[in-house]
Amino acid sequence: MSDRDGQPILLEMVGMRKQYPGVLALDDVGFNLRAGEVHALVGENGAGKSTLMKLMAGAERPDGGTIYLRGEPQRFAGPLEAMRAGISIIYQEFNLVPTMSVEENIYLGRQPVHGAGFVNWRALRAGASDLLGRLRADIHPGALVEALSVAQQQMVEIAKAVALDASVIAMDEPTASLTDREIERLFELIDRLRAEGKGIIYISHRLEEIERLADRVTVMRDGRWVCTEPREQLPRDEMVRRMVGRELSSQYPVRAAAPGEVLLDVRGLSRRGVLHDVSFSVRAGEIVGLAGLVGSGRTEVARALFGVDARDAGEITLHGEPVVVGHPAQAVAQGLGFATEDRKGQGLVLGMTVRENTTLASLPLVSRLGFVSAAREVELAERYRADLQIRTPGIEQAVQNLSGGNQQKVVLAKWLCREARLLILDEPTRGIDVGAKAEIYALMNQLTAQGVGILMISSELDEVLGMADRILVMREGRLAGELSSAQATAELVMRLATGVEAASPAAT
Ligand SMILES: Nc1ncnc2c1ncn2[C@@H]1O[C@H](COP(=O)(O)OP(=O)(O)OP(=O)(O)O)[C@@H](O)[C@H]1O
Ligand SMILES: [Mg+2]
Repeated sequence: MSDRDGQPILLEMVGMRKQYPGVLALDDVGFNLRAGEVHALVGENGAGKSTLMKLMAGAERPDGGTIYLRGEPQRFAGPLEAMRAGISIIYQEFNLVPTMSVEENIYLGRQPVHGAGFVNWRALRAGASDLLGRLRADIHPGALVEALSVAQQQMVEIAKAVALDASVIAMDEPTASLTDREIERLFELIDRLRAEGKGIIYISHRLEEIERLADRVTVMRDGRWVCTEPREQLPRDEMVRRMVGRELSSQYPVRAAAPGEVLLDVRGLSRRGVLHDVSFSVRAGEIVGLAGLVGSGRTEVARALFGVDARDAGEITLHGEPVVVGHPAQAVAQGLGFATEDRKGQGLVLGMTVRENTTLASLPLVSRLGFVSAAREVELAERYRADLQIRTPGIEQAVQNLSGGNQQKVVLAKWLCREARLLILDEPTRGIDVGAKAEIYALMNQLTAQGVGILMISSELDEVLGMADRILVMREGRLAGELSSAQATAELVMRLATGVEAASPAAT
């Protein structure tokens, strides 16, 4: 089977339908993938992208529709069958076993064995080293997954999918937590896989990645197929318009910043080998951006402030009073909030409902005389569901049933609800679609207008430049410099972050 472009169709899905309680996640969706192409799948949070991939990979059963692989109809009883048929998927939410090593995860369930059936550890190590080498990932194959950073775990997830040598490889937001350099390596790998004739499905909210990679783009909205076009025929604003079904005005709201008195003051914050003499302050009503490369110590600053990690030295005051943080609960009691980047590990209790997760960190707010007021809880959860446009049939839905981006919104709701005086937001819009990002920025503005101070960590330079009143740039555990929003440009921030002077005009 091939289409008019002559490239053979590897995979085709016709009339895919998936009904969850209260949500029609997929409604008659069609999709096809050619050999040797990168086909991007875009759409707002909850549009149905991950669900479509789960049906394709046999992880969920469709309620209707047929999947053809090289023209043959398939019926996968489970993920293993799909894997054997040559379909491999990198899930948005990692699927690694934290207590196992990197190499064991890469070959999970299909380790090379000796004749007698024992695991061939040497082959395992060699294979894993080779794969990680191809990704140029600096990760030891014997390391435990739980000891890796989020970005490293993502690389392992990618190595695992590539190890299968599948003909169809789906990547569901693979770059969400990678550094720029890792992203470039991944893109090189994708280019290679495409050249080898594999079909790649690529899901991302970062439209510049779509522009860089995709041959074709399929847009989904509300569980439906909207269009499939060659990438050149879908410029970015048109893509966005089809995703959200309306025009989007400027993404970054105008900020009328009027920073007040110093709210948070940090002096000489140090943690051996990680942070070195970090000093800065955040004023009431101010958004301070913390920029820097992944691994530069941004998250470590947040963790030390919040009492997740101990500090070796440093004074922290909030409203002029010394902050004693030995433990996150103390930090919360003193008015600090911390929306983490790792929503699965630290942000949410997946088995609990949207309502419970929203009010989790705010029990004093919803309790009277030690009893939780159900009415107040419902009121708060409903308010943030509306403000953040959390897409769910109701606040009693378990968070694990929400789409990735909507889970991220619940993490934010949890901390917004807590009414912290100083809010630390670590990658607040990761995995969030273009429409909802603007809502989150507007909400940040509302908070600062009420005098809340925000320390925002973000790898998206656009976002830092668009939202922060002041930008602190970190490099190797130190503050490398500070820029006002008026001075800051992408180039200046990158120069501070990398320590590399801009290329001077070629000397003649
Ligand atoms: N197990 C489940 N139970 C109930 N509803 C679900 C389940 N999985 C997904 N849904 C719902 O199906 C819809 C589509 O979700 P899906 O995860 O496919 O969205 P998505 O396009 O991947 O979004 P995102 O960009 O946020 O990752 C959402 O409304 C989601 O809440
Ligand atoms: Mg998804």
